[in-house]
Amino acid sequence: MPLPASPAWLADRFECFERPSSLAVRVAELLHQEFSDGLKRPLGLATGRTMEPVYSALVERLLALPADQLSDVRQQWCSFNLDEYVGLGPGDCGSFAAEMDRQLAVPLGLEPGRVRLPDGLAADPAAEARRYADAVWTAGGIGLQLLGLGSNGHVGFNEPPCGPDAPSRSLRLSTATRRQNAAAFGGDPSRVPAGAITLGMEQILGAERILLVVSGAAKAGILARLLKEPPGPSLPASWLQDHPGLRLIVDRPALGG
Ligand code: GLP
Repeated sequence: MPLPASPAWLADRFECFERPSSLAVRVAELLHQEFSDGLKRPLGLATGRTMEPVYSALVERLLALPADQLSDVRQQWCSFNLDEYVGLGPGDCGSFAAEMDRQLAVPLGLEPGRVRLPDGLAADPAAEARRYADAVWTAGGIGLQLLGLGSNGHVGFNEPPCGPDAPSRSLRLSTATRRQNAAAFGGDPSRVPAGAITLGMEQILGAERILLVVSGAAKAGILARLLKEPPGPSLPASWLQDHPGLRLIVDRPALGG
């Protein structure tokens, strides 16, 4: 399906699906492809509601593989998540670590340490952000980075305003983001942790390839801005437009259809 007004930067790097379920199956196929090709560099993973059906489709796909192929995926698996809340660890059900355990590590039977995230319980979150960025670098840098789109244009937890060279860091979350993520905390934005550790725009843009996934009518406004506005700090995701390895995958509700 063509875009109503396709910006030049998007060219042929765009796919749109009628239904969120078809989008999830397609993204799962692309993630699986990374392993079929022999994972050369770590995967960059995201959390959030957009990724839930994606990971569920990925688990279904991988668990249906012949045993030797599934075992091969398990042996290859090496991923780094974008972010984590400050003050939450794997034992807190609202943490991204717990989310990754529930959605991927446990159902796929991945060994501990294969799915890595910043340590939200670190005594010094700023130092943890630097350590985590170093760990990504040491592991060879991200090959394919999976990204969702925040309702205020953030990627990872790179809140606006944000430049393309923003480093991995610990930061305070905006009111808009705490509201966006309240569902995982009983619907109460004040229960969403006030701080987070995130890979910076610098590290995200350092990935070899980027898969930006936008799903659902709630993202129509911010996606329209992304498709219209030139890169700038008020819309952190806009810095992705210049990335040569960007692919944008959306569903029709996200396009306002
Ligand atoms: C969250 C996360 C992002 C996520 C984005 C979209 O705050 N930090 O990694 O991709 O916002 O979330 P959702 O898919 O729930 O809309």
